[in-house]
Amino acid sequence: MQNLNPINYISPEIHAQDVARIFSASWQLIGAAERLAQRGDYIATEIAGNKVFVVRTRSGLRAFRNVCRHRGARLLPEGSGRCSTIRCPYHQWVWGEDGSLLNVPWWGDDADFRMEDWALEEISLHVWRGLLFVALAPSGPFEAQLGALADEIADEPVESYRWMREERLVFDANWKLYTDNFVEGYHIPGIHPEFHRAIEFERFETVALEGMVRMSAPPRPGLFYRGKWMWMWPNWTLSLFAGGINTSRINPIDHRRTELIYNFYFEDTSEEGAAARDKIVEDNLAVVREDFEVCLETQKNYESGGYRAGPLSPRHEQGVAYFQELLRGVGAQ
Ligand code: FES
Ligand SMILES: [Fe+2]
Repeated sequence: MQNLNPINYISPEIHAQDVARIFSASWQLIGAAERLAQRGDYIATEIAGNKVFVVRTRSGLRAFRNVCRHRGARLLPEGSGRCSTIRCPYHQWVWGEDGSLLNVPWWGDDADFRMEDWALEEISLHVWRGLLFVALAPSGPFEAQLGALADEIADEPVESYRWMREERLVFDANWKLYTDNFVEGYHIPGIHPEFHRAIEFERFETVALEGMVRMSAPPRPGLFYRGKWMWMWPNWTLSLFAGGINTSRINPIDHRRTELIYNFYFEDTSEEGAAARDKIVEDNLAVVREDFEVCLETQKNYESGGYRAGPLSPRHEQGVAYFQELLRGVGAQ
C-alpha cells in the first residue's frame, strides 16, 4: 500500500475536480433537524464554497442554493436564524419559503419578465436519524452513500440525544490530508500523548467497511470517549463519548484551507450538567486541535516538492488506504 501522490493535495485544478466529483455529487451533513423546529428556521452554510440553506416551511424542510437568481448575491448570511421571507440584500428581490419569487421591486416595464421563471434553485435533502443531509447533484441515493454506518450504529440511541453546540475550526491544509490523519490511530502516541495514555493503544483497531472506517480501542477508566470513532465517505465523522455523540464535517474552503464543523449531542440537557458538557466539548476539541500543526507542516512538505509517496502500515493505515482507494475511484492520481 502506498500513500497518494502529493499532487492531489496541492493542485487547485485537482481541488476543482474534488468539488465537482465529490462535494457536488455527494450527500453532505448539515446538522440536526431539531434546530429547524419552527417555521422559517434556517441553517445556511457552504459545501466546498457552494452556498446552500435549509429552511423549515409550512410543508416541511426544503433546501436551496443560497444564491440570488438576479445577479448572484448571497441571500441568507451563514449561520442559523429565522426568516418569514427570503429577501436578497442586494436589490431586494423577495422569495417565499417555498422558493417562489414574490416581489421584484423597481423593475420597470418588461413584457418578457415572468416571475415563475426565477424561483430559487432547490437541491436534494434527506433526514436520517435526526441528521440533515443535502446534496447539490447527488450521484446516488442517500442509503448507498451511508454504506455500513446504518448497521454500525443501529444500537446507538442517536435520536434520544439533543443538539447542544456547534463549533467551527479552521486550519491550513488540504481536506484530504486532514482526512488521511483522521482515519488512522497510528499518530496517537506521537501527536496525542495524553489521549494515548487514556486508551489501550495495543488493542487499537482500524477496520474499513463499506463507505466508512471504524476505529476502536478500549478506553481506560476516566476517558470521556467511549472508544469508537467513525469516518464516512466523503467527509464526515461520528464519535461516541460518555452521554452523547459528536459529528463533524470536513469542509474545504480552498485547496489548502479546511474547516471542521463540529456538532455535539448530549443525553443530559440539564442546567446542572452544563459544566460537564462544556468540559467534554473542550477536551474533544483539544484533541482535534493537536492534529493541526502536523497537518499543516505536512501540507508544506507536499507543496515544496520535497516528498515522494511513501508506504502505508498494514496494521494501522488501512483506513488511509481505503479512503485513498475511494479517491482513486473518482479520479485521484
Ligand atoms: S443580486 Fe439579488 S436582487 Fe440583485
Ligand atoms: Fe489525531
